[in-house]
Amino acid sequence: MKILGIESTCDETGVAIVEDGTKIIANVVSSSADLHQEFGGVVPEVAAREQLRLILPVLQKVGGRKIIKNVDAIAVAHGPGLVGSLLIGVEVAKTLATVWGKPLIGVNHLIGHIYSCWLQEDSNAPTFPLIALVVSGGHTDLVLIGGHEKYKWLGGTRDDAAGECFDKVARILGLNYPGGPEIERIAKSFDSKIISHKFTRPMINENNFDFSFSGLKTQVAHRVGEQKLTKNKISEIAYEFQDAIVDVLVSKTLRACEKFSVKSVIVCGGVSANIKLINRFNAKLRKRAFKFFYPKKNLAIDNGAMIAAAAFFNKRFVRPETLSVNPGLHF
Ligand code: KG4
Ligand code: ZN
Repeated sequence: MKILGIESTCDETGVAIVEDGTKIIANVVSSSADLHQEFGGVVPEVAAREQLRLILPVLQKVGGRKIIKNVDAIAVAHGPGLVGSLLIGVEVAKTLATVWGKPLIGVNHLIGHIYSCWLQEDSNAPTFPLIALVVSGGHTDLVLIGGHEKYKWLGGTRDDAAGECFDKVARILGLNYPGGPEIERIAKSFDSKIISHKFTRPMINENNFDFSFSGLKTQVAHRVGEQKLTKNKISEIAYEFQDAIVDVLVSKTLRACEKFSVKSVIVCGGVSANIKLINRFNAKLRKRAFKFFYPKKNLAIDNGAMIAAAAFFNKRFVRPETLSVNPGLHF
């Protein structure tokens, strides 16, 4: 079964065709991140206007009319996200489904991130039950998944999402948006043997599955204070900040895996593109029985392929006229 997946929840415009939820036939993503750089974060109006401009060219790049018309269903992320951005993907999907008479599937963007882990080249799929850590610019959630369509939310951030914290700390350090890749890049030049000062690990020992990252951002702001930031200083602070956030994410996820005796652990969402995070998980999981899954780097950030994959395994068909955007959608 071939599904066309459309993603437009934030600053990316993504369209893909995926076969049977695992095999990518085509995947095109266009980002407006460059346009938001000077503001240090996404400007909703700018993102939506850019998506309106890009959605048809991106659709065309995925394949000619004949190829797209041959899909068996159309899937679209209808939330959570920015209302203006969501409207573009959702209205395009509804129009295509109506005109071509195709079934339409509404997908929760967060569940889309989880299914990016089914898009593996070796068709090695995660096994249930599993714990998923969804870490993106808008979310940090731990979810227990008993099977397709069986989600139990365990906890999440009480303030900033992990990706949002990366973006805000990058801004404090004078780095570009999006901040995650920038912090990762500059942290590499720090010699970890000379680590001097440590940031705290918020909520790491609390007996729950919640997170809090805004205090970490404040710690960075205090540490920067009035001092002139040299390149060495920036790489030191970036390294220590990344180390702290990675520690908390890994520790709380592993605690959930142990408590629920799961078979697999998934880390997904934009922040899962962070090599330090993936390496720390790999190191900690070496002596444990859980199988570890994370998306390929280009599938960690928002894309249409993950939406098509999630739609295949969670076929929630809707009549086009009834599908509406849901900016606050959760698990
Ligand atoms: O999933 P995503 O593309 O969009 C949302 O659904 O929010 O995630 C974007 C977030 C941004 O906050 C960005 O800074 C972060 O993912 N990110 C990273 C890395 N690449 C992207 N964070 C840490 N390290 C990275 N390499
Ligand atoms: Zn996302």
